[in-house]
Amino acid sequence: MIKKSLFPAAGYGTRFLPATKAIPKEMLPVVDKPLIQYGVEEAIEAGINTMAIVTGRGKRAIEDHFDISYELEHQIKGTSKEHLLEDIRKLMNSCTFTYTRQKEMKGLGHAVLSGEVLIGNEPFAVVLADDLCEGDGKGVLKQMVELYKKYRCSIVAVMEVEKDSIHKYGVIDAKELEKDVFVVSNMVEKPKAKEAPSNLAIIGRYILTPDIFDILRDTKPGAGGEIQLTDALKTQAQKGMVLAYKFKGKRFDCGSVDGYVKAINYFYDKTKK
Ligand code: UTP
Repeated sequence: MIKKSLFPAAGYGTRFLPATKAIPKEMLPVVDKPLIQYGVEEAIEAGINTMAIVTGRGKRAIEDHFDISYELEHQIKGTSKEHLLEDIRKLMNSCTFTYTRQKEMKGLGHAVLSGEVLIGNEPFAVVLADDLCEGDGKGVLKQMVELYKKYRCSIVAVMEVEKDSIHKYGVIDAKELEKDVFVVSNMVEKPKAKEAPSNLAIIGRYILTPDIFDILRDTKPGAGGEIQLTDALKTQAQKGMVLAYKFKGKRFDCGSVDGYVKAINYFYDKTKK
């Protein structure tokens, strides 16, 4: 039912400079796989078969990663290293990649709106690849797609966050509908700790209904002069219904150096078990 996932990947990744000067943040490896590949694998597990990627200037490595490298294939064919390409070959055969460019980096909301041309008029998932998620037995996006089947409205993934870091997130005001599922009444982008309406912060996984595009078109720049997806979701919540889902699993903030190093240690330790 949800067949497409949008990957906004046009940001500058300034927190990783100089590493991200010529390499997209989404291509930074966690052990032996780039961040965006983890996101694509999570989407495939959720039954999604079209990966719609919003890129920008200097992001061509993403397209090359999900394409055949004839020279490399030729070089390692029949050698003991051939198995190293098996996973990515399988992944490329199980979905289609589409691309568009965000011409000016005017924020996440603007990046999602730039993806409209790839999504059309249907509900879709959004994955921010720099939030690396590992579900508790079942991927986070799969958990959300199942919830969408029940409620058929936009859903944001949330997690509990300590007071001292709440100012980095979009934070929801909401009432619990069933265990771990909340009806959102308001959202605040990057509040001060004492102004945060709850300790539930939005992370980079969403299911959105396509009316979000019209709302985004009418959304004025907010915090930081950027068009904020949170502001559009707040409008959608007030006009209709938006749910927040406290997902089961782990999330690493790989948009920050700290979270990125934690993710590498965690996934490296797993390869040793
Ligand atoms: P971030 O703010 O975390 O990414 O945006 P950033 O701007 O690349 O990183 P820093 O803060 O400079 O280090 C969240 C997501 O939204 C995308 C980013 O690529 C990231 O996946 N994004 C953000 C866009 O695609 N376009 C934008 O204009 C802004």
